[in-house]
Amino acid sequence: MWSQAQPNIALVKYWGKRDVARNLPAVGSLSITLDALYSRMSVDFLENRGLDELVVNGEENSAMLSRVSGCIDRIAGNDRPAARIQSESNFPLAAGLASSASAFAALVLATCESVNQTADTLAMARIAGSVSGSAARSFYGGFVELAAGDENIDVWSIVGPEDWPLKVVVAITETGPKPLSSGEAMIRCAKTSPFYDSWVERQPDDLAAAREAVDKRDFEQLAAVSEHNCLKMHSVMWASRPPVVYWNNATIACMETVRDLQKKSEPVFFTIDAGPQLKAVCLPSAEETVRDALSDTAGVVTTLVSGLGYGARVLEQS
Ligand code: DP6
Repeated sequence: MWSQAQPNIALVKYWGKRDVARNLPAVGSLSITLDALYSRMSVDFLENRGLDELVVNGEENSAMLSRVSGCIDRIAGNDRPAARIQSESNFPLAAGLASSASAFAALVLATCESVNQTADTLAMARIAGSVSGSAARSFYGGFVELAAGDENIDVWSIVGPEDWPLKVVVAITETGPKPLSSGEAMIRCAKTSPFYDSWVERQPDDLAAAREAVDKRDFEQLAAVSEHNCLKMHSVMWASRPPVVYWNNATIACMETVRDLQKKSEPVFFTIDAGPQLKAVCLPSAEETVRDALSDTAGVVTTLVSGLGYGARVLEQS
């Protein structure tokens, strides 16, 4: 049995933890779930109690094993049999493309399916979020909001994927893994960035503006608040000690490309996460123009295009 989840891209970002041990986010966030990229997982419990085995895209992987095993323990308990976990994805891992979001959403679903506990989507999203905050959002489709409660998160879909079918063009500028995980970077920002407190304080305003823009299908308003929130998050990172800078020259060149397109009235905006890739969000009418312009930008290795998709699901038996 395989499960599948797609990455999500935050337009109003999760950056900061209220409770590191429980991985509770310090701020709410709002994201879009993609359809063209995926992570697939299967979890099979073995007869023995030895070590878990993790195979990622056909190769044994020990780097991620402890986080993966810990996630399975939360669902199946510590005294469970060993598991064989197989994982496949069709995009580069750990490069700021939200691979942990789709991977942990798919892993939680596959594990819950193996132990027959899949009924409650929010409960599964909370487990995924306790492993990787953004993974909770990949349980839902279209435009998704996550609220950071005192004791737990809440997550729900605000508008479905067909109700406002935006496109995302991802400009990949580097395929290697990122130098610092987002989790470690968040903790450093909270401790050392002079802008961190005001980031947390202003987040409800950005969430309200983004939510309203989605409700009204107001692309310009969504563009303005998303770019502002992204650049604000990166400003928090740049001002931390030591600084956290995920961008490279091509990331900045891509931002200029998007600015040029905006000057020509193309409906497009950018967002950037904990990596050097730029994600351009546009109306369907602009997809080809945006893709061509980003492909021609210096330093872009390749581009991927995606529409909006649904939340994590169990795949038909294959
Ligand atoms: C910049 O969900 O990877 O993509 O909870 O520590 O695993 P952990 O963090 P993670 O952080 C995502 C950060 C982001 C913004 C976002 O997706 O909201």
